[in-house]
Amino acid sequence: MRLDYLTIFPDYLAPLGLSLPGKAAAKGLVELHVHDLRGWTHDRHRTVDDTPYGGGAGMVMRPEPWGEALDELLGVPDGSGGPDSPATVVVPSPAGRPLTQAMARELATRPRLLFACGRYEGIDQRVLDHARGRDDVDEVVEVSLGDYVLNGGEVAALAVTEAVVRLLPGFMGNAASLEEESHEQGLLEYPVYTKPASWRGHEVPPVLLSGNHAAIAAWRHAQSLERTAERRPDLLHASHVAGEWEVVPAAAGDTAELHVLTLACWVGEALVNGDLTIPPLHESVADTAASLAQWDTYVVRVGGRLVGSVRGRLEDTTWEIGRLMVAPDLQGRGLGRVLLEHAERVAPPGAAAYRLVTGKDSAANLRRYKRAGYRVREVLDGPSGPAVLTKQRRRPGRG
Ligand code: 6GU
Repeated sequence: MRLDYLTIFPDYLAPLGLSLPGKAAAKGLVELHVHDLRGWTHDRHRTVDDTPYGGGAGMVMRPEPWGEALDELLGVPDGSGGPDSPATVVVPSPAGRPLTQAMARELATRPRLLFACGRYEGIDQRVLDHARGRDDVDEVVEVSLGDYVLNGGEVAALAVTEAVVRLLPGFMGNAASLEEESHEQGLLEYPVYTKPASWRGHEVPPVLLSGNHAAIAAWRHAQSLERTAERRPDLLHASHVAGEWEVVPAAAGDTAELHVLTLACWVGEALVNGDLTIPPLHESVADTAASLAQWDTYVVRVGGRLVGSVRGRLEDTTWEIGRLMVAPDLQGRGLGRVLLEHAERVAPPGAAAYRLVTGKDSAANLRRYKRAGYRVREVLDGPSGPAVLTKQRRRPGRG
């Protein structure tokens, strides 16, 4: 992975050479490059900011140095030896999406990250708009560390880097230690203890000394739940209480919830594709009810609530998979993948290939489907496509 940092305070990023990212660089897992944005200014004072159009307090970072810096840095080979990969531009901003473990996991899959560390009131919006339109940029993500204001993006760039780099394959010796920690299961971590068993009148909880592994696991899980409920009730979700997801055939009684879930899921799709005409948003409850007779539809409930669905039907030898949806508050936990794999598994014997569609600008969906082995075959010319993706079915015993 190649990591570039654009900042007017390169010294602020000196810690990148230390500790964790430094170790990753030494192992050859990452290549780190810090750049002074002022290197792309041309005036005597190396000016990077100016007053905001429309008035108001503070200064805004001018677009020109950013544009020239992007041109130069994204033009540099990524060091992979293969064809150059597009970069993900990470823009730290208190107005960004909150940094989460799910986001770190996603960023850890990208070959190349470029951090654009702003100062002052922010970067001229056109820099982001321009970056989003570049062929050598696959995504521009604005990321926030939380609901408070820092003076610039450098600390956030360090935080994102540390969260991402430790997830790179080959970085941590023990993958299990990654899985058990806070946030990986959506819960806070349980308290931990080491020797001595008794210290200043405080004892290690006896169960940890019992040697009973099942009892220890149960105690730790209960501690995680208790802590999460107390400190972060927003993270507590019925799935932690309900256990595994169970995908079951939809029944008539699911219609109303399925209808509402469809609307909740496709409003976002309409927005990212700039297309309010997409069919799922225009179905009536009666359409949803009728669809249950025309498709094999499956649903997942968690704690009684319908949180996911998918459907399939055979057309000639193609298994059409559609309406893959996960409640917006539960996305990023692998449920979509479970539903997609289920839809593939239940395809009848006559299915030789799977086919599905998504909005042509639904970058996150397209990435997920590609990762699941689908390829875009064509993009239809409606306002949002759709993009049509297919995947050959693998049959056991036929190579
Ligand atoms: Cl990413 N940047 C700034 N300037 N302030 C923040 C932040 C980022 N995250 C929280 N506050």
